[in-house]
Amino acid sequence: MTSTEEISHPLFAALYDRVMPERLLLRPHREYLARGLSGRVLDLGAGNGPMFPYVDPGLEYHAVEPDPHMRRRAREAAREAGLGVDLRDARAESLPYPDDSFDAVIAGMVFCTIADPDAALEEVARVLKPGGEVRFLEHVRADGWRATGQDLLTPVWKRAGGGCHPNRETVERFVGHEAFDLVELERVRVGVFPAAPFVRGRLRRRAEPIGR
Ligand SMILES: C[S@@+](CC[C@H](N)C(=O)[O-])C[C@H]1O[C@@H](n2cnc3c(N)ncnc32)[C@H](O)[C@@H]1O
Repeated sequence: MTSTEEISHPLFAALYDRVMPERLLLRPHREYLARGLSGRVLDLGAGNGPMFPYVDPGLEYHAVEPDPHMRRRAREAAREAGLGVDLRDARAESLPYPDDSFDAVIAGMVFCTIADPDAALEEVARVLKPGGEVRFLEHVRADGWRATGQDLLTPVWKRAGGGCHPNRETVERFVGHEAFDLVELERVRVGVFPAAPFVRGRLRRRAEPIGR
């Protein structure tokens, strides 16, 4: 998918709740993403709003989600959670916010799906305040034969999985970015091949990234 094609996956949006092992397996990781947040927070590719029940309703909470079927469900989820969400139809590669707008950005299983993840990370660096955090939970490229298997499966998987690429080198992308310091990175026991391994962690936006 290119950055200009419409993003619309009605079946994926309808099934997303059912295929995600939310309560049992993801809950501690969603709690990790939400813990101690303050100020203005951006939920990147918020999907149907699975983070909403976990975040403090006192936050100034913003979200972007380009798929209309997900956005409709996200609006319901915000109502159910009693969370005020400024939810916008936008893509991570082109965020509709000024520089240094947010104290934190949440990325929950989204860097696998964004069409241009490098452009998206540039945008995240731009809209985060210096010292602000990216909190992430992502499934990433495996090692050895599993990585080869992910490469082979990706063309089919991304069709069925709403654009998800199981072979993305997201850790390398995060760790290598000049705008961020890695604060925390750990492998977590969720996900099955090809959508595994999973990692969670935190990046901190440097005060003065090189070239900004
Ligand atoms: C696997 S879902 C993750 C949803 C949610 N963040 C979560 O924690 O479960 C990936 C989401 O990213 C959205 N997405 C796809 N392309 C995107 C882009 N370029 N920018 C932002 N979000 C995007 C999809 O529509 C989908 O809702």
